[in-house]
Amino acid sequence: MRIDILTILPRLLDGPFADSILERAQQKEICEIHIHNIRDYSEHKQKQVDDYQFGGGAGMVMTIQPIADLINKLKSERTYDEIIYMTPDGNRLDQRTCNTLSLRKNIMILCGHYKGVDQRIRDHFVTSEISIGDYVLSGGELAAAVLVDSIVRLIPGAMSDETSALTDSFQDNLLAPPIYTRPADYNGWKVPDILISGNTPKVEEWRMEQALQKTKERRPDLLEDN
Ligand code: 6GU
Repeated sequence: MRIDILTILPRLLDGPFADSILERAQQKEICEIHIHNIRDYSEHKQKQVDDYQFGGGAGMVMTIQPIADLINKLKSERTYDEIIYMTPDGNRLDQRTCNTLSLRKNIMILCGHYKGVDQRIRDHFVTSEISIGDYVLSGGELAAAVLVDSIVRLIPGAMSDETSALTDSFQDNLLAPPIYTRPADYNGWKVPDILISGNTPKVEEWRMEQALQKTKERRPDLLEDN
């Protein structure tokens, strides 16, 4: 998979991809992540990338020219399955969307800033708009990092334990059950007996019960839809 991220703040994305699963996935050539500075494509003399909004009102708008030129350059090099715009008014990200996107070959992610991008970028280039939740961030970069992490970890080979992603919370619309490791008794805090019984079917049954109970308590909405 190849992911191209378009941003006016490339340094915000230096950290998230340099460690752990995302670092390893790039080393193992499971995915390539390319960060592009939109400002580099500005034809404006001061490399300006924003302007006042028509009709008045507070807040700047990201201009079309540098973004359009960068998107067109990338599109001339390969075919993109998806051009995603990160915006708080997009569709809320969920595991199903992550699963679908993890099967794509080339995706482009545009990070919004200020008031956002000129609507015509959204109308003519963007194929999907994603938000990571009902709260506002100062820019799309951190949201893009969340999106990339959630997608790349699902690509076969990205995680050391291949089965692990399948047992995540949400993968079956259930929250994950409680987990424990050694010691089995920490100063009197004991691990549930069933987990050290060696009875695998019973363990699985217990985990399912726990997952269901936790989901009922915390996220009953997950049990309602689908
Ligand atoms: Cl994608 N961008 C911004 N700026 N804020 C957000 C968001 C995205 N998702 C949730 N809040």
